[in-house]
Amino acid sequence: MQVRHYLQFKDFAREDYAQLFERTRWIKERFKRYERYWPLADRTLAMIFEKQSTRTRLSFEAGMHQLGGTAIFLSTRDSQLGRGEPVEDSAQVISRMCDVVMIRTFEQAVIERFAAHSRVPVINGLTNEYHPCQILADVYTFIEQRGELRGRTVAWVGDSNNVCNTWLQAAEVLDFNMHVSTPPGYEVDPARAGLRGTAHYTQFSDPQEAVRSADLVTTDVWTSMGFEAEDDARRAAFRDWQVDAKMMRAAKPDAIFMHCLPAHRGEEVAAEVIDGPQSVVWEEAENRLHAQKALLEYLLLGKVEG
Ligand code: CP
Ligand code: NVA
Repeated sequence: MQVRHYLQFKDFAREDYAQLFERTRWIKERFKRYERYWPLADRTLAMIFEKQSTRTRLSFEAGMHQLGGTAIFLSTRDSQLGRGEPVEDSAQVISRMCDVVMIRTFEQAVIERFAAHSRVPVINGLTNEYHPCQILADVYTFIEQRGELRGRTVAWVGDSNNVCNTWLQAAEVLDFNMHVSTPPGYEVDPARAGLRGTAHYTQFSDPQEAVRSADLVTTDVWTSMGFEAEDDARRAAFRDWQVDAKMMRAAKPDAIFMHCLPAHRGEEVAAEVIDGPQSVVWEEAENRLHAQKALLEYLLLGKVEG
């Protein structure tokens, strides 16, 4: 049987997401009632980190443990991966010892090469291009807070980075609209975002226009991991792309605000927004745990009926 990986949001179809969101809700409810659910007893997750992380590491490690399995943390600093062992060789070895692998790395091409040589499912825990686990949790959070996302409008203000690209893929898979505003020179690259076309998003030069009538306003750091050398230029270019209270007032009255975190108050978001009543960032962060447990269950056990 063909091994199923989760390397980009579009690797799954609408029906897969329907199943994942249903299981996320079921798993979350049981967890909140302190009910034991150990479907992954004796299964092992290998987590490879080439970049730093708080949420992704913690949610995968705690999540695997809560499902009855074990998670092993590997970083490039203390494994042979950091000393030039070929990705293909590492994939062969790791996937003979573990049941599922999560990787956070730089180029998407690295995770694609790993997956091509892996006997077990590979999950993208963030690359320069995509962050599918984040948007899995974000879409679930929207549904939990406001219901179906289909036909709604999500406004993205800021860098057209990995998180933005993944939102754009989600818009195509789940059929909603994206309004994107980036500074000049930082616009969406549809090929890099892995999009089928441009039907599900509109680019705005004015961020205030992008958020008009949006159901969800979201943003992310001006400088992502791996792009630190561009920090000064980015600070200058992104100065007017801060989500502030005026922007939130232009969105729908019941609009919510999300941020994948970590956030920089006073840069991409004003403190009054991220710490304000429309912000759901803590629920969003928590849902990484529940959504990824559903993802692990789905990749290892297939469609489980609740
Ligand atoms: N949002 C997110 O992926 O956070 P970490 O970098 O802390 O994992
Ligand atoms: N775009 C950010 C997301 C961090 C979770 C980065 O890649 O650094």
